[in-house]
Amino acid sequence: MCGIVGYSGPQSAVTPLIEGLRHLEYRGYDSAGIALATPSKLFIEKRAGKLINLELALGNSAPIAHSGIGHTRWATHGGPTDRNAHPHVDNEGKLAVIHNGIIENYTQLREELESRGHIFESETDTESVSHLLSDLRKAHGGDLAAAMREAVKSLRGSFTLLAIHADAPEVIVGVRRNSPLVVGLGNGENFLASDVAAFIDYTKRAVELGQDQVVTITPEGISITDLDGNAVTPREYEITWDSSAAQKGGFKHFMLKEIFEQPKAVADTLLGRLSAENKIQMDELNLTTEDIRAIKKIVVLACGTAFHAGMIAKYAIEKWAGIDVEVELASEFRYRDPLVDRNTLVIAISQSGETMDTLMALRHAKSSGARILAICNTNSSTIPRESDAVLYTHAGPEIAVASTKAFLTQIIAVYLIGLHLAQTVGRLTGEEVRELFYEMTELPAKIEQILETVEPLRELTRGFAQSTSVLFLGRHVGFPVALEGALKLKELAYMHAEGFAGGELKHGPIALIENGTPVIAILPFGHEHGLDEKMLSNIQEVKARGARVIVIAQEGANVVGAEHVIRIPSAPALFQPILATVPLQVFAYEMAVTRGNDVDQPRNLAKSVTVE
Ligand code: F6R
Repeated sequence: MCGIVGYSGPQSAVTPLIEGLRHLEYRGYDSAGIALATPSKLFIEKRAGKLINLELALGNSAPIAHSGIGHTRWATHGGPTDRNAHPHVDNEGKLAVIHNGIIENYTQLREELESRGHIFESETDTESVSHLLSDLRKAHGGDLAAAMREAVKSLRGSFTLLAIHADAPEVIVGVRRNSPLVVGLGNGENFLASDVAAFIDYTKRAVELGQDQVVTITPEGISITDLDGNAVTPREYEITWDSSAAQKGGFKHFMLKEIFEQPKAVADTLLGRLSAENKIQMDELNLTTEDIRAIKKIVVLACGTAFHAGMIAKYAIEKWAGIDVEVELASEFRYRDPLVDRNTLVIAISQSGETMDTLMALRHAKSSGARILAICNTNSSTIPRESDAVLYTHAGPEIAVASTKAFLTQIIAVYLIGLHLAQTVGRLTGEEVRELFYEMTELPAKIEQILETVEPLRELTRGFAQSTSVLFLGRHVGFPVALEGALKLKELAYMHAEGFAGGELKHGPIALIENGTPVIAILPFGHEHGLDEKMLSNIQEVKARGARVIVIAQEGANVVGAEHVIRIPSAPALFQPILATVPLQVFAYEMAVTRGNDVDQPRNLAKSVTVE
C-alpha cells in the first residue's frame, strides 16, 4: 500500500530513487512521484499511473541532486490523479512529504491549517502533514526532526512519513506508526524505504525502525529517537537474500517465476525440521510441553490467500493434534466479542507481515491474553515483531501481487505446527510423524512434475477466455483450494469466479450453472469417507445442467463426466492442497495473459494492504 524511498549520498539521487520505486511498485501503482533537493529549492515531478509515466515525464530533465524522496501510490484519500500523487509540498514549495497509510484526523487538521491561511492543492490526507510540518519546523528553528516528533503526536492513524526541506537538502526525516520503514546503511550514503528491496542493489546492511520512532539520515549517518527525542540505539541486521531474487530471471512475469519457484520454496520451508529422533524441530515457537498441553483452542487469523491457508490449518491440526481450531477473517475478528484468553493460541498468517487487518486482530487477541504465533514470509516485519513467536516461511521475496509460493509455504508451516503439537500432546508417535514428514519431503518433486506438464493446461485455459463466470468445487481440504482458485481468477483475470464446497451446490449455487459454464472440480483423494464419489455425483449434477467440467484428479483416479482431466501426483489427503493449487494458479495466470491483463500488477490491488 504505497512504496516509499529516500536517498542521501553522493550519487545523483534520481537513479536510486527510480530504481527503488521500481522494486516497490508492487505496493501500489496508481501514481508515482519524486522530490529532489537541489540547494535552496525542491524539484518535484509526479504523474498518475504507473512508474513509467513518471519516467517519461522526467526524460533527461531531472536536475543533479544528492538527496530526495520517491513514492509509488495505492490511492486511498483522493483519486489517482497527478495532483493527488505524492510528494505533497507546503505553500512555499520548500518542504515535501511522502506517506504510506492513512491520517485519520486529517479533516480536522486541514480545517485548522486552512484557518491559519494554508492553501491545499490536493484531496489527500497527506497534504495536511506537509502544511503542519512546515509550521512546526519554523517553530523549532528549522529542525525538521523536532518538527516531525511534534507533528506525529497530533496524528491519528497508521503511517510512514518521509520529509525533506530545501534549506537542509542532505537531511531526510522519517517516522513510522503501524506501517513499515527500514533504513539502509551504505558507505557514505543512506537510504530509507518501505522494503529492503528498494536498496538491496546498494547495501545489505539494514536497520528496522520501531513503532513511533523518528529517523534522520544524511550521507554521514543516521540517528533515531523516540517521540520525546530520546536517542534509540539502532539494531543492525544483514539482508540475507540477493537482488536477483527480486528480478524476473528470464520469466515473462514475476508470478510465473514464483509459481516455478514453489518446489524450492516448499523444500526450503521444510529444511531441517525433522530431528534424528523423529521430532519436529520448532524451537522458535517458544512453547514448552506444559504450554502446549494448556492450549484449549487455536484461533487462526488471516486475510485473503493466507486465510485459505488458515482453513487448511483447521483440517490438519484438528486431525493430528485433536485441538479445536477456529479460522477467522482478521478483518472481522475484533468487531465481535471473540472468546480468546490465555489458553488460546492465536496463529496469525501473513506473507508480508504488514497486513493491517491481521495486525489489528492480533493486537486485539493479545490484549485478551492470548499467545500469538506468527507465520510470516518477511523478516522483521510488524506482525512477527508484535507476536510472541514466529515461524518464518522460506518462500523468498514474493513480488507478484497475487500470492502463490507464499501460500504453499504457509500451508507447509501449518502442517509443521500441527505435527509438532500432535507429537507433543502424544497423539502421533515419532514413527507416524516421520512418515508424514517424509511424504511432505516428496511434495517438491511432485510440484515439479505438475509444472513440467502444464502446457496442455495453458492451451485449455485459452479456450475458456470468453467465459464470463467460472465455478470451483472442492470438498474437505479441496474446499479452501477451490476458494483459492476462484480468488486467483478474480484478481488476475477480472472474471466472476466462486469457490463452493461440493455439498453446498444443491443449496443454491447450482442455479448459476448455464449451458457452457466452466466448472473446475477438485476430486478429493486418499480420503476415508468416500468423498471422491460424492464429488463425482456433483460433477454429474452440474454436467446435466450444461456445465463444461474440468477435473483436477490424482493419477489413476477414476473420473466420469469430465470434459478435461488435469492429472496431479497422489499424496495423503491432507497434503492435496499443495498439489491441487498449482494447476489453478496456472489457470488464473494463463487466463490473465490471454485476456491481456497486467499479471503482476492487477488493477485496483496492492501487494501489502496496510490500511483497514
Ligand atoms: C491474493 C493475495 C491476498 C493476500 C492478503 C493477505 O493473491 O495475495 O489475498 O493473501 O492480502 O496478505 P498477507 O499474507 O501479506 O497478510
